[in-house]
Formats: sequence, structure tokens, C-alpha cells
Amino acid sequence: MLSSTSAGAGIINPPAYVKNKRLLEWVTEMVALCEPEAVYWCDGSQEEYDSLCAKMVDSGTLIKLNPALRPNSFLARSDPSDVARVEDRTFICSNEKVDAGPNNNWVEPAEMRATLNGLFKGCMHGRTMYIVPFSMGPLGSPIAHIGVEISDSAYVAVSMRTMTRMGKGVYDVLGENGEFVPCMHTVGAPLAKGEQDVVWPCNKETKYIVHFPETREIWSYGSGYGGNALLGKKCFALRIASTMGRDQGWLAEHMLILGVESPKGEKTYVAAAFPSACGKTNFAMLIPPKAFNGWKVTTIGDDIAWIKPGKDGRLYAINPEAGYFGVAPGTSEKTNPNAMATLKENCIFTNVALTDDGDVWWEGMSKEAPAHLVDWQGKDWTPDVAKETGRKAAHPNARFTAPASQCPSIDEDWENPAGVPISAFIFGGRRSHAVPLVVEAFNWNYGVYMAATMGSETTAAAMGKQGETRRDPFAMLPFCGYHMGDYFNHWLQMGHIVEQKPQIFCVNWFRVDEKGQFIWPGFGDNMRVLQWIVNRCQGQASARQTALGWMPTYQDIDWNGLDSFTEADFEKVTSIDAKLWQQELDEHGELFEKLKERLPQQLVLKRELLKLALNV
Ligand code: GTP
Ligand code: SPV
Ligand code: MN
Repeated sequence: MLSSTSAGAGIINPPAYVKNKRLLEWVTEMVALCEPEAVYWCDGSQEEYDSLCAKMVDSGTLIKLNPALRPNSFLARSDPSDVARVEDRTFICSNEKVDAGPNNNWVEPAEMRATLNGLFKGCMHGRTMYIVPFSMGPLGSPIAHIGVEISDSAYVAVSMRTMTRMGKGVYDVLGENGEFVPCMHTVGAPLAKGEQDVVWPCNKETKYIVHFPETREIWSYGSGYGGNALLGKKCFALRIASTMGRDQGWLAEHMLILGVESPKGEKTYVAAAFPSACGKTNFAMLIPPKAFNGWKVTTIGDDIAWIKPGKDGRLYAINPEAGYFGVAPGTSEKTNPNAMATLKENCIFTNVALTDDGDVWWEGMSKEAPAHLVDWQGKDWTPDVAKETGRKAAHPNARFTAPASQCPSIDEDWENPAGVPISAFIFGGRRSHAVPLVVEAFNWNYGVYMAATMGSETTAAAMGKQGETRRDPFAMLPFCGYHMGDYFNHWLQMGHIVEQKPQIFCVNWFRVDEKGQFIWPGFGDNMRVLQWIVNRCQGQASARQTALGWMPTYQDIDWNGLDSFTEADFEKVTSIDAKLWQQELDEHGELFEKLKERLPQQLVLKRELLKLALNV
């Protein structure tokens, strides 16, 4: 053992049920490296959750909300510099640079390890180190995988309990020699002796979100926020899992999973990939319009899908998560009543506004804002202040953390270890122009092309400029743990392995008119498109052939109960503008140029065919 562990070894003191040798060694090493004041082994119990939250209320990290209005719920205000994922500080340190691809930042692994060792040395001075065991997917499911996060943030420990299957039970699955993904996290803010802590410790200058795909390790430094710090989510379930999927023949995707039940009782499951803050949670919890009597939508997951081929030749998907880390702004009784019901208790809200009666508020929750609020930075806020300064009450990337089991539309099979069979993949971005409401791909390979070339306008979910259109293949640009060209190839190969391939569709809810207003009503009315998609999968809906793929005519969609949307509006959201598509194809070409060292030729061919079809 390392000689420097002797000081730390005494404080490790693992519970008797922790028997995994590699885990014990790793914790010993990390204690020696990070030099925490104490080590705490999380058991995942309610008592533990309550006591950690109470401690954070005492220290000011959490504000307890009014229990009469929002039982057992809390508000956290982050440091204003720590409000979203940091894509430019995210690294895939594969042994070979080419394997990370141009879609990832890369640093030579030995060099990165040296940097991290320097940063992590003594990084937990004055803090408690939490050992957080978790399962992504139902405990013991053949599709599930185990991780252990070491963190010096109690906010991370309690959030992981909601977002994953976290606790003691994980050690039974892990046994003495079971495998786990080590997820190392620090806020990067060691405390000197006697130094007073801040409410949201983080490192304002230095952040690193690092993945070693070959050894399946995650190291995160400097941020306490969401995807940077809850390492089971983007780091493990997407970046590391995507490389596992490539090696083992399955898919780890930035997808929601939902079920559609028709009035005849037929159930169809679909998985849909939209980039961050582009509507997955809303789509997953959709409530059909009143006129859709007998149609029901159920929720399996809202952000991530792990998808594996089943013995019957179909693809089966599970939601590896156990909670929702969802976008608060825009969520309301009107847009997403299921989310509002999910949020009624046991939630942690981050960077939303606080009402005078101790509840939460965010832009879009109600038409009229309350007369007075405390905004996400703890400052007084009134509608007049907003009018004068444009200041938002909630940060645009304010989020809620809520248990999935509280969702009224949760599917009865959401924890089925075998997963649910997928009939369709849907891809969608946030596009003001060019991309039509819905298109069905002619075949699998062409569907892969459409997903590979999709674009989206950037949102507040990541630091950086908002509203810029960028290519975001499969909504995976920030989350694919390897070369995007290899990833495209993996999807093409899955087409050979899977006998009953899901049909592939592209959607766009976000086309705008001359005034910049969304033309499509969206939200519950997305059911009209979803119904057409499901009926297409069942061979029960017609379509017309276009250059881009199969599209519904106005008559192919059920407009019952939506009088405000005219045939002319439908034309506005489905038209194909040759000039705009010329530019689209140019941008596809630019993406392909970047990926050319690993780009499957099949996709180059598809681009040529599309050029011909569009006559551009
Ligand atoms: P991540 O959690 O970042 O992966 O996001 P997500 O894809 O789950 O996005 P979410 O459903 O939380 O939606 C993000 C924002 O888009 C919210 O403000 C929604 O109100 C808005 N939104 C969702 N669906 C629609 C829609 O159909 N039309 C319009 N106009 N806005 C929508
Ligand atoms: C996303 O950005 O796609 C999210 C939120 O789901 S975070 O967990 O912060 O990445
Ligand atoms: Mn997401």
C-alpha cells in the first residue's frame, strides 16, 4: 500500500457489508490523495437523506421549502459561474487521439493523469468524502451496470439517491470481485483550517470533466452542477456506456422512452433523441389532447436509454436512471401537468426563484409572475425589475431533481429488467427553419444519415453562446465517448444485427414564423405527430413520398380539437425550401469533412442521393 495512506487509513472504516476488494483499495488510495477530514459510506436510506439535507439546511446550501406547499423539498442556489455543463472542459482521454475523434477534447492520458493528480492532491481538506454506490438500471438487471461515486459534496450524495438506485443493496450485487465504474468527484475547493465554507463550493477557475474510456474511469474537478457532478448520468450512462455499447454490441443514447397505447389496447414503445433542453422530458410525459379518446402515453425514461438486442430480434430499452433532472423554466400545468405532479414533493430545485410563502417559481410556470420573488441569485425580484433589466427570476437552466416513481404517467414496465421493445426511433432538434414537422426515413441506413446530420440551436443546458445552429448528431455531440464516425458505423452495424429494426423518424416542433413565434402548438399536440408515427409502425397510416422521406399529408393527421391550426399553417411547418436545403447539405458536407478519417462511405453515398432527390 501507499505509504501516505497510513494517516488516512484510520478514517476509512468501511461497514462490514462492503467486501469488494477493488473498491476498498480504491477508496484507500483516494483518501490518501484527497486527504478528506472524514469518510462517510452512504447507505441510501431515507434517514440518511433527511439528515444530509438537514445538515445542508444548517450550512445554507439548501433552503427548506414550505412543507405545507412542497413537502420534503429544498432549493439550492449554485454559484453564478456553475450553472450548466462545461463542454469545453470535458475530455475523452483515450489512448489514441484518433479514437476520441474531432467531436471530443483529448489530452494524452498520462499527461491528464499527472494534471489530475496535482489537482486532486489535498482537494478535500476540511471536507467529508462521501462514498456513493449506485446502479444504473434496476439492481441486478442484465442490462444494468454499477458505479461508485466518491464526492466531497453532500448535494451530490442526496441527488444521486434520487437519480439512481443508490445505497447498500448495490454491495450485494457487487460482492467481493464485481465490477464497477469508479467515478471520482470533487468540487475543487479545499478548506484551510478554520476557513468558513461558502454555500455552493466549486472552483471558479478550474474545471475538468475527464473520461478514460479504456479503463472506464471518470474524474470530475471543480463543479457541483448536474451533468458535471452527478457522474452516473452523462459521464457514465452516456460517455463511458457508449464505448461499452460499441465494444459489446448495444446502444447508450440521449433518448427518452415512452409507450403509446391505442384505443384498441395496442402498445407501441418509441425512443426519441432530442438535444439538451429540446423537449425530451415534455415528450416523455405527454398527455394527449382531449379529442384523443382512449389514447394513452406512458413514461419509461426522460433522458437516457440503454438499448440491447433481444433474442426475438427486436431492440429492448431500459431507462438507467431512477429520477428526473429536468429543465424547470417552461414547465407548467398547461405544458406538462405530469411533470408538475411529479414535483409535488421530495424534490431538490436548483437555481429557481423562491416565493414569499416558501415555494418555487420559474419563468413559464404561470402566466403572471408573483408580485415579489427572491431570484436564483438570492436577490429581490419583481415583474418591474424584470421589465427594466431583463433579469430572469430563475436561471434558464434551472433544474428539478425528482423521483421517477412520482410521475403519474410512469409505465408499469419502467423497472422491467428486460426493458421494453422499441418500434420507432425519433430524432429532433430545435430548428427555426428548414427542417419539417415530421419525416419518416426510407430505410435504416437513410435514417442513420438523417440522425447523423441533424442540427439544433444551442440552449442554456451548456455554457456558451445560445441559439447558434450546430450539427448535433443523434443529439449525442456532447455525450459520445468516442469518434463520431465510428459511432455512425456502429449504428449502421446495428442495422445488420437487429432483425426487426425500428422505423426511424425526424421531427421538429420549433419552426417559427416571420415574427419569430413558434408555428406548431407543441407539447400535448405533439400527440398528433406521435399518433401518425405509431400508426406508420403498425402499417395503419398513409404518407406521401418527398425528397426527404415519407411525410404525412394534411389529411393524414388527426386535427380533432385543434381548430386554430390551419392547412396553411401545416404547409408552413412541412414545406421543403430548396435554398435552405442546399445550405443544409453544405453543412452535412462540412461535418463529414471533419469526420472523414472514420466516416462510413455509406453516408457519403446517401448525401449524394439526397442531393439528386432535392435537385440541389
Ligand atoms: P435535457 O434535460 O437538457 O436533456 O432537456 P429535455 O430534452 O428533456 O428538454 P425539456 O423537455 O425539459 O424541454 C426544454 C424546454 O423546451 C422547456 O422550456 C420546454 O417548455 C420546451 N419545450 C418542450 N417541448 C416543447 C414543444 O413541443 N414546443 C415548444 N415550443 N417548446 C417545448
Ligand atoms: C442535459 O444537458 O442534456 C441534461 C442536464 O440532461 S445535465 O445532467 O446537466 O447534463
Ligand atoms: Mn439530457
